[in-house]
Amino acid sequence: MQIDKKLRLLAVKIGLTALVTLSGFAYAQAVKPNVVILATGGTIAGAGASALNSASYAAAKVPVDKLLAGLPELANVANVRGEQVAQIASESFDNETLMKLGKRVSALVKQADVDGIVVTHGTDTLEETAYFLSLVIRTSKPIVVIGSMRPGTALSADGALNLFNAVSVAGSKDAAGKGVLVTMNDEIQSGRDVSKTINIKTEAFKSQWGPLGMVVEGNNYWFRAPVKRHTAQSEFNIDEFEALAPVDIVYGYGNVPRTLVDSVGKSGVKALIHGGTGNGSVANRVVPALQEVRAKGVQVIRSSRVAEGFVLRNAEQPDDKYDWVVAHDLNPQKARILAAVALTKPVSSKDLQRIFWQY
Ligand code: DGL
Repeated sequence: MQIDKKLRLLAVKIGLTALVTLSGFAYAQAVKPNVVILATGGTIAGAGASALNSASYAAAKVPVDKLLAGLPELANVANVRGEQVAQIASESFDNETLMKLGKRVSALVKQADVDGIVVTHGTDTLEETAYFLSLVIRTSKPIVVIGSMRPGTALSADGALNLFNAVSVAGSKDAAGKGVLVTMNDEIQSGRDVSKTINIKTEAFKSQWGPLGMVVEGNNYWFRAPVKRHTAQSEFNIDEFEALAPVDIVYGYGNVPRTLVDSVGKSGVKALIHGGTGNGSVANRVVPALQEVRAKGVQVIRSSRVAEGFVLRNAEQPDDKYDWVVAHDLNPQKARILAAVALTKPVSSKDLQRIFWQY
């Protein structure tokens, strides 16, 4: 009789322990944020022939499930699941791919069981995608875009920690409302401000205005917040359009012929970005070509090929007289993104200039 009673008591204790453990686990799962990882390719999904191939490799090879399986530590900071939106090297990230990614992000952030989004991406055009999402996704939930400068097969590969940091930040409540972010090389950068400044080192992504903060061992350290409009405060919404406006870039240099402007100007673009020298300056022989383009109703936007600083209105070109717009501190590739979004609906040059001041 005594043994029977002891056995029953033991069974109850084991049952209770299991119940507490499982409920604790369930609670921990429930407490951990749900982060969706949208993979698009790039070096972070790349593979080299050997560990010594840190710069020569094939991009966009490893599928998202394999990326996640290779990083079990992600489970320490979030419940994660992956989707393969594309599998390309990002130099080929065209408007259609941007729209496909943006529509998926917009749908996911509306789901109550999604707390944050990570996009894995090639580094070549990562800055364009990050800025695009900051303009058109109406959410305050964290969206983090990342890539890597070395493939996962290389010595000192940077992708795993970039991905871990991205998931950690995307699941952080204190990352909400800060616009689209880029967590590369331990820094938390603004998707609007950041650009790829070096093509051969892991410390590749910089902003002339500095990072927003740092992420170290899963903890975020913030030092500033964005002041330009983005995400939930944006006037643009990807749910309201199906395609970006055609906008292209002409790169300025000493011997640039006007024919480049002539050909872009008659290709059906709604705006032409002029990546000028210095303060967005335009060669004398090109000015009349830009005036003719403007006269045909195409917006002319002066950016600069110079990495830092910003283009001043009416400084070296009479923008008021020519009815041109200045891109402020946006480099030509980011200016193209903003114009392509802004011109999805009719906008005057005056209002377009307001948009370039605000975003
Ligand atoms: N082809 C480049 C790209 O996909 C590789 C660079 C990288 O992803 O780091 O952007």
